[in-house]
Amino acid sequence: MKRAIQAGLVAAFLTLVVLALFVGRAGREAENRIDLSPRPSSATAFWAEATIRNVTKHDIVYTIKPGPGARAPRTRTLRVDAVDRIATDLPVEISFDNGRRTGEYLIHPGKPYSFRYDENDVIKVYPGSHGREDAADLAPFVPTPQTVVERMLEVAAVGRDDVVYDIGCGDGRMVITAAKKYRARGVGIDIDAALIEECRAGAAREGVGKLVRFIHMDATKARVTEATVLALYLLPESLETLEPLFDKDLAAGVRIVSHNYKIPGWDDRLVRSEVMTDEKGRKHKIHLYRIPGAK
Ligand SMILES: C[S@@+](CC[C@H](N)C(=O)[O-])C[C@H]1O[C@@H](n2cnc3c(N)ncnc32)[C@H](O)[C@@H]1O
Repeated sequence: MKRAIQAGLVAAFLTLVVLALFVGRAGREAENRIDLSPRPSSATAFWAEATIRNVTKHDIVYTIKPGPGARAPRTRTLRVDAVDRIATDLPVEISFDNGRRTGEYLIHPGKPYSFRYDENDVIKVYPGSHGREDAADLAPFVPTPQTVVERMLEVAAVGRDDVVYDIGCGDGRMVITAAKKYRARGVGIDIDAALIEECRAGAAREGVGKLVRFIHMDATKARVTEATVLALYLLPESLETLEPLFDKDLAAGVRIVSHNYKIPGWDDRLVRSEVMTDEKGRKHKIHLYRIPGAK
């Protein structure tokens, strides 16, 4: 009897030890689960953000209209070239005084926007090309129509000895066309990784993969010393931003052909300008510049 009681006590003790070990392990696993699991869904709602950059030469004061969860309008000041991030998973209404009237815009999370000048120097909100703080927003992706691309390359007299650079190359059509039509070598640079993938696929499809190269980077940090022709479709303030790069890297005799926009302050280098009509009846300007000096 005494032995039976002793055996029972030992069994009970062992059961308690096993249980304690099990509960302890389960507790540690539970802690691990908390550490490793994704954030709770209530938090994921705030992961989305709308981004807006100031690509003008003035600080901009703008107001965010109250949305769900916010009772009062919020006024923010956005410094030159700074990016504002608004945590939201819904479109946000913003307004600002552009000096002539109050502009009102709806900006969507997940897409970059910029305050920029229009062709009359009035500040408006446009789609941006990216929401990165460490890189300039030179222009949103708007492709040059193919007939205009072909004319730009003709105006710049591109030949097989040329190296054509496109800063902000979009889908790569300038350098791909120059390679296909004239066997020119080319380099395209763009900040948008998806566009660079598109460029590489386009070059392979057109059989010019060996002649052209596409680089994913902020073009303001690129070097273009190898270029003999620069084909551009960027806004005037971006052309101005790139001027130190042009001054540093472009050799005498390099031709620069620009779609629609003139390079500010470069009238003494302008060779000629012309206007053409594209396949949809829209007018486009083409400006040709040449870096002075003997080649
Ligand atoms: C107006 S599109 C021109 C596309 C192309 N050059 C054409 O004419 O069809 C401007 C391009 O500049 C790119 N871009 C904007 N900021 C940039 C930056 N900091 N570095 C490189 N590319 C940039 C955009 O992604 C966009 O593809």
